[in-house]
Amino acid sequence: MEIENLSFPEAVEFLARRVGMQVPEEDNDFESKKRSRMLALNKDAARFFYEQLSSPGGAPAREYMQKRRIGPTTAKNFGLGYAPDDWRSLEKAMTAKGYSREELHSAGLVRIKNGSCYDTFRNRLMFPVIDVRGNVIGFSGRILGDGEPKYMNSPETLVFNKSRNLFALNLAKKSKSGYIILSEGNIDVVSMHQAGFDSAVASLGTSLTPEQARLLSRFTNQVIIAYDNDGAGKKAAQRAIGILEKLDLKVKVLALTGAKDPDEYIKTRGPDAFRNLLEGSENQLDYRLRSVVEKYDLGQDAQKVDFLKEATDLVARLPSAPEREVYAMRVATLAGIPADAVISEVRQRRKRLLSKANRDTERQQTRPGRASAPAGRPRYDDEASARAEEGIIRVLLLDPALARDSTLPPPEAFTAPPLAHIYRSVLDRLRQGGEVTTATLGAALSSEEMSLLIRLQDEPLAAANSERALKDYIQKLYECKESKQVPGSPEDLLTLQRKLRERKGYEEA
Ligand code: UTP
Ligand code: MN
Repeated sequence: MEIENLSFPEAVEFLARRVGMQVPEEDNDFESKKRSRMLALNKDAARFFYEQLSSPGGAPAREYMQKRRIGPTTAKNFGLGYAPDDWRSLEKAMTAKGYSREELHSAGLVRIKNGSCYDTFRNRLMFPVIDVRGNVIGFSGRILGDGEPKYMNSPETLVFNKSRNLFALNLAKKSKSGYIILSEGNIDVVSMHQAGFDSAVASLGTSLTPEQARLLSRFTNQVIIAYDNDGAGKKAAQRAIGILEKLDLKVKVLALTGAKDPDEYIKTRGPDAFRNLLEGSENQLDYRLRSVVEKYDLGQDAQKVDFLKEATDLVARLPSAPEREVYAMRVATLAGIPADAVISEVRQRRKRLLSKANRDTERQQTRPGRASAPAGRPRYDDEASARAEEGIIRVLLLDPALARDSTLPPPEAFTAPPLAHIYRSVLDRLRQGGEVTTATLGAALSSEEMSLLIRLQDEPLAAANSERALKDYIQKLYECKESKQVPGSPEDLLTLQRKLRERKGYEEA
């Protein structure tokens, strides 16, 4: 209540929402009464549309579904329906059930113009939008065939918030596939489910929002993006990758070669081809590499050279050596040149990246290093301490569980500013339960710090036991401090604090 400045019921509501729970509704609460009335109305409207689909009047919708090859079982699973070609059929059916025009209007089911009232959805194939609790929160209606607007959607209402919900998540959340397929179109989702890909969802006619990503992260740790195969789809995919990676979700992007969307891909190539695509679908590097490929005309030598420059730079930044080899070979195949040439180019590029990182670190130091630094390392003011600091970071990268170790020194205890900053970022990340990769730390670190981190990841660890190694590095760090102690300095206080802890078995709360 105090942190957010809320009343007690507001605080309960706030916390419940944060963990995805629903606060039991009280009968005397006017707002929640209106909400549950609207949900009941939506459910009744969905039932009405559903019944219309199998009635004689529903023939045009059934024909359209046949044309799009949507079968009756799929239609039933999604609760698809038909809004009759009539100005008042829904209004009549719902008022007969006791709902008022005002209620229909605030649910977005009717429109009022110049005092006259008419159904919002007419002669359309109806897709109910159902939230993860099973409530019908809104509708999306597709025109039967060509025409504008292609879709009509419920407006934002008391119960419908487009940016916080995803179409078909109510079904996809039950999938055993281990990932969620994120697409753009309702028809794509229906088509994928029908072909057996039961974890497909779509955003509701908008680009992916952070709220939707957070919602997804409650049900999966891997998202496969299957957007339309056009310029807009590619742009949207890039944006979505950024949003999803911020939440530590694993992201892959499908390459729907030869089709405009998942629906068309499944229809022309079949479900097996689509499954292959899903299982082999690209990771972010594949995707970035492909984006680079698409920028250049590889038939032209000058462009091929530019392509190689950009692609080897991408590969040279990969932290693991085997990965660099694999992707270097891929680049070679793409450019049609021998693999060895690319591999050695990547090696040189990486050397340059690392020594650039070293030069930059050197420039940041005010005094030149006293001890001569080993080749390939930056020079530090206090070489011995910096080596211990690097060691602590390396252990944490190898064994993230050690981030909870209570004997870890505070970042202020580090003597090298770039190492202190990397250490702080790595710790923050790990303590929030996140993964540390060059991708997830990208935003927090400068490019020099990033190169430094890449180099640290590459260096082997001296001890076999990471806990032991961590202890040794921490010990070393404090020894360095003691050896150049100035009484009364902050270093002095840190040492004192550590001694107190050791002697009295003092434990941090
Ligand atoms: P698409 O035009 O790709 O539609 O729009 P679709 O569902 O894939 O249908 P087909 O296969 O072309 O028949 C993607 C999504 O954008 C929203 C809808 O949610 C749609 O599913 N949209 C599209 C609208 O909200 N309004 C529109 O007029 C068009
Ligand atoms: Mn589409």
